[in-house]
Amino acid sequence: MYYDGKIWIGKNEEKDVYIYPRMANRHGLIAGATGTGKTVTLKVMAESFSDAGVPVFLADAKGDLAGMCRPGQSNEDMIERMEYFGLAQAGFDFKSYPVNYWDVYGERGIQLRTTVSEMGPLLLARIMGLNDVQTDILNVVFKIADDNQLLLIDTKDLKKMLQFVSDNSKEFSAEYGNMPPTSIAAIIRAVVALETNGGDKFFLEPALNIKDWLATDNSGRGFIQILDCEKLMQNPKTYSMFLLWMISELYETLPEAGDLEKPRMVFFFDEAHMLFDNAPRVLLEKIEQVVKLIRSKGVGIYFITQNPRDIPDGVLAQLGNKVQHALHAYTPNEQKAMRAVAGGFRENPAFDTYTALGELGTGEALVSVLGEDGVPTMVERVRILPPASKMGAIDDGTRMEMINSSMLFAKYDYTVDNESAFERLTAYYSELEETAAKEREAMERQHAEEREKAEAERAAEKERLAAEKAEEKERIAAEKAEERERIAAEKAAEKERIAAERQAEKERIAAEKAAEKERLAEERAEAKKAEQRSRAIKSATKSVASSAVGTIGREVGNSLGKSVGGTFGKRLGGNLGASLGRGLIGTLFKL
Ligand SMILES: Nc1ncnc2c1ncn2[C@@H]1O[C@H](COP(=O)(O)OP(=O)(O)OP(=O)(O)O)[C@@H](O)[C@H]1O
Ligand SMILES: [Mg+2]
Repeated sequence: MYYDGKIWIGKNEEKDVYIYPRMANRHGLIAGATGTGKTVTLKVMAESFSDAGVPVFLADAKGDLAGMCRPGQSNEDMIERMEYFGLAQAGFDFKSYPVNYWDVYGERGIQLRTTVSEMGPLLLARIMGLNDVQTDILNVVFKIADDNQLLLIDTKDLKKMLQFVSDNSKEFSAEYGNMPPTSIAAIIRAVVALETNGGDKFFLEPALNIKDWLATDNSGRGFIQILDCEKLMQNPKTYSMFLLWMISELYETLPEAGDLEKPRMVFFFDEAHMLFDNAPRVLLEKIEQVVKLIRSKGVGIYFITQNPRDIPDGVLAQLGNKVQHALHAYTPNEQKAMRAVAGGFRENPAFDTYTALGELGTGEALVSVLGEDGVPTMVERVRILPPASKMGAIDDGTRMEMINSSMLFAKYDYTVDNESAFERLTAYYSELEETAAKEREAMERQHAEEREKAEAERAAEKERLAAEKAEEKERIAAEKAEERERIAAEKAAEKERIAAERQAEKERIAAEKAAEKERLAEERAEAKKAEQRSRAIKSATKSVASSAVGTIGREVGNSLGKSVGGTFGKRLGGNLGASLGRGLIGTLFKL
């Protein structure tokens, strides 16, 4: 409860315990075993800050903070507490608070978005579970994007950028170091996984302008921004990195403030152990640094966790306002841890801190705050005030009503896809493709021209060959014709010659026949003469006849030989004629 200019959180028989608004930026811790009252304490503190005009952000892990939009209700326990605290006299009343509901998935609150570049490579690497090498590469990819004025807004920007770096890894390696494409491929896979886990929704524009959270309502009360984390917490790394991003956004957005009368904003980080579980050293150092520096910007961060040991010493040491609910210490280890927690308080001689830690009831706590002088107060055992607003969850109808009536809902209820790395690189790739296509076209044209030229050459060659062939054919035909003519002429000549020969033969034969005829006629005439002579002789004597015959025979032979031919004929004819005559006559005589 905001009372007397202070954040009144608890009371015991002797005194009231307050957080001093001037010291509220010295951060704080709410710790305690489950069910001991941490969430209610957070609620009481948040309400008080709101009443003090300080805007508040809180992460609602279980939905049990949502009731702040409705006034609380009285019950027996409440009446008892109110009496104990004297709340009626202090002006306590049940009331609702100005709240906005947010959800990174846009289901149970106004869509909470950021951009990839605002999230930054370190947080993003953690969300995606990248190893050291991959984280380094992601860092470099962000640097290359910066150097080339390529905006990384959504996951498709990041994927395109990674592809661009992978495609040009050789060129980039000289300036930025080696980036194996296999590692880049692994990062792209992680981005795809992130998209399926909602990354495609919460890395988009319009991104949250965190200044919208630094608001008060008409009556001057600080707005309470409630992030619904039921779904988000199923992925602890995304949850914790988102909250860390918000803190760094606040850090970057707000100017230095020095010591203010009250914080500009108070930030409650529930389930804070998730932030530190297995976080790499570089991230832990970063958190420690941000927690330290953000104080001077007027922002107080309150970590809520079961055991203070969940928080690294470097951060724990900076938490000035501590509310420690009961702890259980059944095992030696737990007892040791509890002793360490007890040792973290400035002791109060009125009681033993260690013992008290184990005895605290629900809604009871050991509290130590930074006094107005900046020195931690002695630990006090107190009962925590009850909240003024409704404890627990709200129904979906009320939630939707609240979301839709929020001024900020209208502002963030749409998405834009401004020109960023994706569009620029897509244009770059299509330009590359266009150039390649043009080159391809030019090459194809050149090939076509070459082909055409070769074809023309081939056609000309074909024509030339055809002409040659035709010429040759003509020549052969002419030769053949000539040959044919020559043969025909030869044949004609031969025919003529044969005809001439035949004619000559015919003539010769005719001449021979004529000669033969003449000869025969001569012979016949001769024979006739001879017969005539013979008849004459027959009448002469035989001896006379005989010699006469010889002579006659010779005469006949001569005439015969003349007809046979030449001297030989004549001789033959003579002898033959003689013998013939002799024989003939002899025969004639023998007859
Ligand atoms: N200050 C208080 N005033 C009235 N009731 C309280 C107070 N603190 C705790 N309670 C009661 O105790 C219950 C459990 O408290 P709370 O939910 O805050 O515990 P928690 O420590 O946040 O538990 P968890 O670790 O499970 O989140 C509350 O629902 C409420 O009924
Ligand atoms: Mg709780």
